[in-house]
Amino acid sequence: MQELERHAELDGGLEVRVLVGGAQPRCDERRTQALAAAQRQSAQRDQQGLHLRAVPVAEPLARRQNALHARLGAALHGSNQGQKGVRSRGHAGGGNLIADFSADERRSLVTRRYQALCGGLADISSRKADHLDLAISGDVGFRSTTTLLECVRLVHDALPELAYEEIDLSTTVLGKRLRAPLLIAGMTGGTARAEHINRELAAIAEERGYAFGLGSQRALLKNRQALSTYAVRDMAPSALLLGNLGVVQAGQMSSAEVLELVQLVGADALCVHLNPAMELVQEEGDRDFRGGLSTIARLQAELGLPLVVKETGCGISGSVAARLKGAGVRHVDVSGAGGTSWVGVETERATPARRPLGEAFWDWGIPTAASVALCARHGFDTIFATGGVGSGLDVARALALGAHLGGIARFALQALESGGRDGCLAFFDRIEAELRTAMLLSGARTPAELGRVPRLITGELVEWLRQL
Ligand code: FNR
Repeated sequence: MQELERHAELDGGLEVRVLVGGAQPRCDERRTQALAAAQRQSAQRDQQGLHLRAVPVAEPLARRQNALHARLGAALHGSNQGQKGVRSRGHAGGGNLIADFSADERRSLVTRRYQALCGGLADISSRKADHLDLAISGDVGFRSTTTLLECVRLVHDALPELAYEEIDLSTTVLGKRLRAPLLIAGMTGGTARAEHINRELAAIAEERGYAFGLGSQRALLKNRQALSTYAVRDMAPSALLLGNLGVVQAGQMSSAEVLELVQLVGADALCVHLNPAMELVQEEGDRDFRGGLSTIARLQAELGLPLVVKETGCGISGSVAARLKGAGVRHVDVSGAGGTSWVGVETERATPARRPLGEAFWDWGIPTAASVALCARHGFDTIFATGGVGSGLDVARALALGAHLGGIARFALQALESGGRDGCLAFFDRIEAELRTAMLLSGARTPAELGRVPRLITGELVEWLRQL
């Protein structure tokens, strides 16, 4: 069985590490990266005798959860040290638990978010820890919906009259010069682990000349001490830095308060994210999405900083693009379907009662390619193409459809987690090499020229563009 490591960071500096079974990353590069790391970790644990299958699968879920929680609770309290399969290792400020669970046990843990097992020992950190764990190790890609970027065929130019060295990836976005049309899309903030990820990825963005997005700054609203987890300006003094806030949260704040939040982290612009699908599946999610457009119009008029309206994996339709344009919005990140399914992530966290809803909507959304092309009809200044972008050829295809940058979230995170800084840099080396190659072979010297090259649109993408 393939096994992947999961982490759950607890308030108070305690970390739970759990090996989970049965997760199957969907695409080759993820599989290679995640499994290579998982197999190394699994082999180490084999050597250390840490594997355990203690809870029979046939037992009723509640009883199994209780047994599991009791087992982990005991381990967290240190009373189970030395017991086979559950080991507590002390370290400054807390303990470090390593255990191994079946897929069913994993679901139980994710569902209860470890609350029962701690029993007052420590508050469980926010769902952010779950999100990171599932994004890194879970099987949370779209299942049948693809980005449809594969439906875009760039036309081979056998006489390009270009030298590889001449290909110029640089572009200007939101007033900043980037060395390549790439964004490391917003993911995290608010925890010590998020701080590490943000700082590593921001440093890479700075070194490579990419844009960098912070995750939702909601945690900062409640706790200004979380500022350090978003503070990346020292690592990325010149990078195009995007702040991030949900439209529902922004709607409850004055424009001045929102501006203050953006300025606290020194961002150049604010991404306001839209995520109704994941919220509806999330147990504790928002249910009232009224007033979103007026919040956006207000911020567009009053913020005094560029505003990017961003989805989170379900895409922006032509109709929504028209409404955004009508509200004065100039920049969008389509964050379309085909990459990370946030409904999928929330489904993995859902209670058994809520799970069927998530299963039904796992593949909901507008494929990234369709969303880019639909938005391109509305003349936005900037279109970020995020959502399942996993290669330089994907970036080239998105640019050929009218995007200005390709955005990458989960694959960048996975590359960092599995290969550290060097692994992540190697991942982006590959993306850039593929993009350059696609540009040369299409006869495009710059990203802007790529937006004008001939391309063929095939398959389901034709229907999206014909019918909508
Ligand atoms: C995200 N994403 C996200 N988006 C956002 O606007 N605010 C946020 O706080 C987060 N948090 C977050 C956490 C993690 C772990 C991931 C992987 C992603 C969504 C992200 O920016 C992007 O829109 C989608 O994930 C689709 O892109 P990928 O993952 O398919 O490249």
